[in-house]
Amino acid sequence: MTVLSIQSLSMRFDQPGGVAVQALKDVSLDLRQGELMSVLGPSGCGKTTLLNILAGFLAPTSGSVTLGGKPVTGPGAERGMVFQQGALFEWMSVRENVGFGPRMKGMPKAELREIVDHLLDTMGLKDFKEKAVYELSGGMQQRVALARCLANDPDVILMDEPLGALDALTREKMQGLVLRLWKETGKTIVLITHSVEEALLLGERLVVMAPRPGRIHREYRLPFAEMGAGQDLRGIKKHPEFARTREEILGMIWDMEEEIMGRVEAG
Ligand SMILES: Nc1ncnc2c1ncn2[C@@H]1O[C@H](COP(=O)(O)OP(=O)(O)OP(=O)(O)O)[C@@H](O)[C@H]1O
Ligand SMILES: [Mg+2]
Repeated sequence: MTVLSIQSLSMRFDQPGGVAVQALKDVSLDLRQGELMSVLGPSGCGKTTLLNILAGFLAPTSGSVTLGGKPVTGPGAERGMVFQQGALFEWMSVRENVGFGPRMKGMPKAELREIVDHLLDTMGLKDFKEKAVYELSGGMQQRVALARCLANDPDVILMDEPLGALDALTREKMQGLVLRLWKETGKTIVLITHSVEEALLLGERLVVMAPRPGRIHREYRLPFAEMGAGQDLRGIKKHPEFARTREEILGMIWDMEEEIMGRVEAG
């Protein structure tokens, strides 16, 4: 069943007195319920623009997005967002951050406590519930951000470089956590990343975008996310098919970057 339908999206940013930027051109995608899609592509290819349109923060120049058959015209609680960093409420405790959405909707205290406790236990943050956000490491903060997003029980989770600011080891652990949550919750997830390995590991479906204009260049269906939900991610990276696809995509992105540089040098 299609949950999120993206139809011929185009986005043009008109610069006052400057050249317009075609950030997206004719992007169409249908996401099934429970699908985990990673989006990869060189800087400036329109990944964040796409996500902002899906979130309802930006209205496209043309095309449409529907969620569960209804047109997306603005932000809504059925779409949860997780950003690279800095989106938590610094002045609130971990518990208050995670419970923020349901509390705003008037959820009774006892139920709220139960949901928040459960989420924080799942995220391995049992002993940090009453801590302030600034007392946590970057990895812990991203776990809080994930928990806060899940507390709203969204239909779709939109993540823009959620693990981009983490050190390599923490990042690997978090990739495992994202896969586990995906399997346990059955959520539909769109995850943007700069990392080819991450896109391969987490994308059941992987979309490679190309820049100028931002568009879909290539799409893959991959077995690694399914495999990774049950086994160690290190082992998967040694899989010959993983290595082959990684090289193929690295080559693809390399060529795009070369082309951009060429164009920049040529003026
Ligand atoms: N509000 C805006 N006004 C004008 N141009 C914009 C705006 N937002 C994005 N752009 C331009 O649209 C293009 C796509 O930007 P976007 O941020 O979506 O790329 P991205 O793929 O997320 O890049 P990165 O990997 O660096 O995060 C870029 O050329 C960018 O400069
Ligand atoms: Mg971006």
